[in-house]
Order: sequence, then structure tokens, then C-alpha cells
Amino acid sequence: MDGTVTDVGVQPVTLARRQFDSLVIGAGGGGLRAALQLATADANVAVVSKVFPTRSHTVAAQGGINAALANVLPDNWHWHMYDTIKGSDYLGDQDAIEYMCRSASHLVYELEHAGVPFSRLDDGKIYQRPFGGQSQNFGGEQAARTCAAADRTGHAMLHTLYQQNIHAKTHFFDEYFAIDLIKDDEGFVLGALVLEIETGKPLLIEAKTTLIATGGAGQLFRTNTNARINTGDGMGMALRAGIPLQDMEFFQFHPTGVAGRGMLLTEGARGEGGYLINKDGERFMERYAPHAKDLASRDVVSRAISTEVREGRGCGPDGEYVLLKLDHLGRDVLQKRLPGISDTIRTFLHIDPAEEPVPVFPTAHYTMGGIPTNRHGQVVVPIDQGEEVIPGLYAAGECACVSVHGANRLGGNSLLDIVVFGRAAGNDIIEYLSNNRYHRRLDEASVDKAVDHLQRWDLQGEGESVANLRNELQLTMEKYCGVFRTEVVLAEGIEKVLELQQRMADVRLQDHSRIFNTARIEAMELENLFDIAVATVVSAHARQESRGAHSRIDYPERDDVHWLKHSLYYKRDRRLDYKPVTLKPISVESFPPKERVY
Ligand code: FUM
Repeated sequence: MDGTVTDVGVQPVTLARRQFDSLVIGAGGGGLRAALQLATADANVAVVSKVFPTRSHTVAAQGGINAALANVLPDNWHWHMYDTIKGSDYLGDQDAIEYMCRSASHLVYELEHAGVPFSRLDDGKIYQRPFGGQSQNFGGEQAARTCAAADRTGHAMLHTLYQQNIHAKTHFFDEYFAIDLIKDDEGFVLGALVLEIETGKPLLIEAKTTLIATGGAGQLFRTNTNARINTGDGMGMALRAGIPLQDMEFFQFHPTGVAGRGMLLTEGARGEGGYLINKDGERFMERYAPHAKDLASRDVVSRAISTEVREGRGCGPDGEYVLLKLDHLGRDVLQKRLPGISDTIRTFLHIDPAEEPVPVFPTAHYTMGGIPTNRHGQVVVPIDQGEEVIPGLYAAGECACVSVHGANRLGGNSLLDIVVFGRAAGNDIIEYLSNNRYHRRLDEASVDKAVDHLQRWDLQGEGESVANLRNELQLTMEKYCGVFRTEVVLAEGIEKVLELQQRMADVRLQDHSRIFNTARIEAMELENLFDIAVATVVSAHARQESRGAHSRIDYPERDDVHWLKHSLYYKRDRRLDYKPVTLKPISVESFPPKERVY
């Protein structure tokens, strides 16, 4: 059915409509794993992706996926569960963490059977490397839990999942940008308005269920490991639909980005035996984490690097970075286990890692917070007594907060998160579809609102530019909401971000063409980034403790009495609410909070 919306905006919009059982927004590992579950159950599923699916950011994941296969050292899922809870600084929900760690081996073997070309041990088993925060026997010796395809694990997984979806006949809308969710008065989510980038034409996709799997928002910060596409679009859509974002104050800075540029140099480099040194050649992690050293959790290593630099022990002419030493690993190991980052180092730093140490500094990497979900992938919001599910709406992967990462994610747990909870969401959707067999009547007011949102970008005239505002936002976030934070700096950060956001009203596009108008897409991406930036600084300002990646100089201790709780940020009135952490796992004893040392 086609309709024409003419009541608002500058140009009338012809609105084509399509119907599917299930809509998946985002074609990274989370979206594709969910879609595969649905398509193989014969659901009519559409995946909308703003880039060609195999360009989704999962492709950039390097080091691997955690599962206690015990191929290299003794291991079991319960140790993995303990490490993940400790890594989360006890903010992770223990039911979801148990579910994820228990499922991990099965999911990795499933990927292997689907065709992921994992690296191999001499006995033919999947290669596993040590990663940060991993231990045997609940905090004992280092474990080796990260299953790797050299240092291109995400690439291998994404391509395999895409091929499996093609085989299962998933319907792809490649290069379509999702604008807004469509909701009715009773709170059911009915699909989304999307934009075909090639033609500039909007399309209304009606669906009985909608899964948001749009990834994180690393583009909030100037120096980051993320693709340009990581603008938190799904989180922005959720906020505009009245859904809060959970734990947004927890943003992960990866310890080893290429200094000054941010590209990821995998933690696997330290897993293979690389280590960090300061200007005196000191292996400084021994001071910060005497037991785990360079394989402490990421928040600990990033703070240590920042401290070395702040205290004048940084390297280089301006003392702005530390060095990652890899040369002792030898050319063969670098070529076999770390070929991707060796290329990156040669290309961007003109250094041979087999000869010279590599300048590194913490770089924005991962959004720990996101759309609140339960372990079935359902989006949940607080009500007076507990929580309620938003009917028809699901989220999985980095845009979701389930919460298995809490205040600090362990490396190798994000590729696991996306397949575990993508699959779980797929399963729950199948059940939902069997109980909700018909499409609900579309809410035209909600459609009009989404169309208005799009048409705002037809306004003509002179004004601010998207590129300038985005640069200013990224610099502001880096300066006011980085590794170390204080009340004063965060308060100033809120003011600055809000000032910048107000200037969005004055932005005018100079290019109003329809065909492949990327300026319009970048403008809508920036709207999303602004909403997420405000959520991040407001949540960070409110949390008066240090926990995981949220490090407050003015509140240096973790405070379990007042702050062992999840934050929930609402766009409306920039309101904050809180909810308890789930300390009760599904079937084993709880791990109560204790001091976290590595
Ligand atoms: O260091 C890395 O390879 C990144 C892995 C991750 O973020 O899980």
C-alpha cells in the first residue's frame, strides 16, 4: 500500500510500505545472529543496514570470542562467569552473565560448524589466547579463553553469519538508514521508518517485532577505534521513543590504540606476550597490577597508561604515549597470530613491530551502556513494582545493556554477547510471533512524527555545518568525559554539550539532492550522537563513585552502599532513575561484591 504525507515539511513525501513478521535494524553480528535464528524458523525477516552488511563494525573485532573450551589451559564456564562479574566491577547482572558464559562453548562450536575459520592448535582444536581479566579457579593463574581467527576474528564471524543468512533467505535492505521507531498508543512497537540511501526515498517497514542491533557510539569521541558508522542510531531512536538508556556513564577506553589516531591494536598482542613500557623502559603494569600485569582488565590498564603520561613518564617528544613492545615475539608469531595489527602498525606508523616498540594510548572503544534488556533480548523499562516489557521491541549487542559488562567489559566478551543474545532474542521473537499472529493497526500519528523528523532536513538556508558541530562534540566529550572525571569537569561538560546540541537547530544542509545524499544521513547521525552524549555526561555527573571505567578523581572509591545500582537516563527532562543490580544468578551461588585487585 502506498500513501502520501503532505501535511508538514517542505516537500511532500511518498511513503512506500512493506510488511514483515520481524524487522532487524543493523547487520552486525547481533542482528545477523538473530536474523539467522528467525529465518531458519521460517519467519519472514527483514534486515535493514545503513552499510552493506559485511561492512558492519563487527568486521573490525580483532582478538577473539571468549568461551571456556579448555583447549590450551584448564577452564570452565563458572570461572568465566566469575571473571566477567569481577571485570564488571560487580555492576553486571549475574543471571545474564551466567546465561552468557554457560552458552559460550555451544555458540562457538556452532560458529565453527557454520564455517568460521578459527586458527588451530597443533592438535587441530580451536586456538585460544589469554586475554585481560581471565583467570583459572576464580582469580588464580591466567586463563586462555579467547578463541581467535588470527587477529581478524570479527571479520571471519561476520562473513560467515552473512553467508548463512543468504542461505536462509533473510531479506536484506542494504544501505537503508533507520530514522525512528513506530509505536502505538498502547506501547506496541510496530516497525520503523527507514530511508533508502540510494534514492533518498523513505520506506515504512511494518513488523510484528523490531530488534535494534545497531552497535555502539564510539564516534562520540575524537580518538576512537570505531568505524565512522558507529553513531548510536538505535540508542537515539530508543530515547526518542521514550525508552531510557542504562549505565551510559560507563564507556570503555581500550588501552592500546595507535597513539594520536586511535586505531585498535588488539589486546591479543599482550595475550601473545607483548607488554607496555614507559619512557624509562619500565614495565610499569607490574606496579598497578602485580599479578595480572599487562593482562589486567581494560579499565585498570587504561588508567595506568593515562597516569604514566600525566605524571611525566610518557614517551615521545611530548611524553604523550607509552610503548607496546612486540619485537621480542619474533616475526613468525607476529605474522601468524597478529598479521592485521602488524599491517596497521606498518601502514599508519611506518614502524616494523618486529624491530621497534609501538606508540599507544587509550582510545574510545565500547559503549557498555545502552537500551535496557533482559536476557531474552526484550526491551524492559521500570514501572512502580519492577519492570515491564515493551511489546514487540528487542535489542541485542553493543546498543543493548543486558547487562553482562556492567562497569567494564572484558575483552573477547563482546563477540560472545552478540551471538548469545542475538540468538536469545531470535528465540524469544519466534515465541512472540506464535502468540501474535497478525499485524496491529498502524499508528499514523507515529508515522507522521517520524516523517516530520526526516523532513526537518529539507529546511533551506544558511546555517551551521554538521561537520563542525560533530568535531566540536567529539573534542568536548574527549576533554570533559574521558578516562578520569571530576564533578567540576563533568558539570562543564554537560553545559558545553547542551550548548552544542542547541546549535543543531541552526544546522542547514547545503545539499538537498535525493540520490545518495550522505549529508542528510550524517545530520541524522549527529542528532543521535548528541542525544547519547547528553545521556553519557549527565549519567557520569550523577554517579559519585569510581567503578570500572567510570573513574572519579573526587570519589576515588567504589561505593556499594549507595551506588550498586544501574542508572537509567530519559531524554524527557534529562531525568535519571535507578534500578537494582541482579546479584542472583540462575542456578549457582551469587558472587557478592568484593575488592577488585588484579
Ligand atoms: O583487543 C581486542 O581485540 C578487542 C576485543 C574486544 O573488544 O573484545
